[in-house]
Amino acid sequence: MKFFADTAEIVAIKELAATGLLDGVTTNPSLIAKSGRDFMEVTKEICGLTDGPVSAEVVALDHPTMMKEAEKLRAIADNVCIKVPLTIDGLKTCKALTGDGTMVNVTLCFSANQALLAAKAGATFVSPFVGRHDDNGFDGMDLIADIRRIYDNYAFSTEILVASVRHATHILESAKIGADVATAPPKVIMGLANHVLTDKGIEGFLKDWEATGQSIL
Ligand code: E4P
Repeated sequence: MKFFADTAEIVAIKELAATGLLDGVTTNPSLIAKSGRDFMEVTKEICGLTDGPVSAEVVALDHPTMMKEAEKLRAIADNVCIKVPLTIDGLKTCKALTGDGTMVNVTLCFSANQALLAAKAGATFVSPFVGRHDDNGFDGMDLIADIRRIYDNYAFSTEILVASVRHATHILESAKIGADVATAPPKVIMGLANHVLTDKGIEGFLKDWEATGQSIL
């Protein structure tokens, strides 16, 4: 499973990149607003922090304007992945962009039928929002399992990019189902390393080691 950092915060992306666990980045208009940075400028900087895809989202709602925005965004760097909403205009834009080799992430996916359309439009990634799905009384993991099954039935190459990840269990369950990517705040990804028994084990080993009076270096 690949890990994308779901943030536009440079420091957090650098920290995750330094662990070797970063495979790409996703942003959205809210995350850009939160960063307080200029969209084009911060996206360019993020693209330099990873070789993986960096999702940058269009804000237009109609296909012709989405295409113009995408044109500008994809000129930022070779690893820009254009993010479009799961609407008919978004799907038209996806088809046109992927047709000439541009990576596209179809976002705001809340049903398996929507994911089917994204795959048919040639999406590189589809982003089902599991956290927001859960918030509204549905089961985000049922959605991931349904999409996995449909994509496998027809051998679609669109990657399932689990988004709106809130906690470690979302990542665990998505990995068990076979989702391709999880995008999450870096602290959620780093948190996967934590276990109370690991901490306790280290404490015990160090105590016994100190008693030997030896040193490795
Ligand atoms: C990712 O591409 C999405 O923009 C993001 O995961 C949304 O997460 P949220 O529901 O926590 O805002």
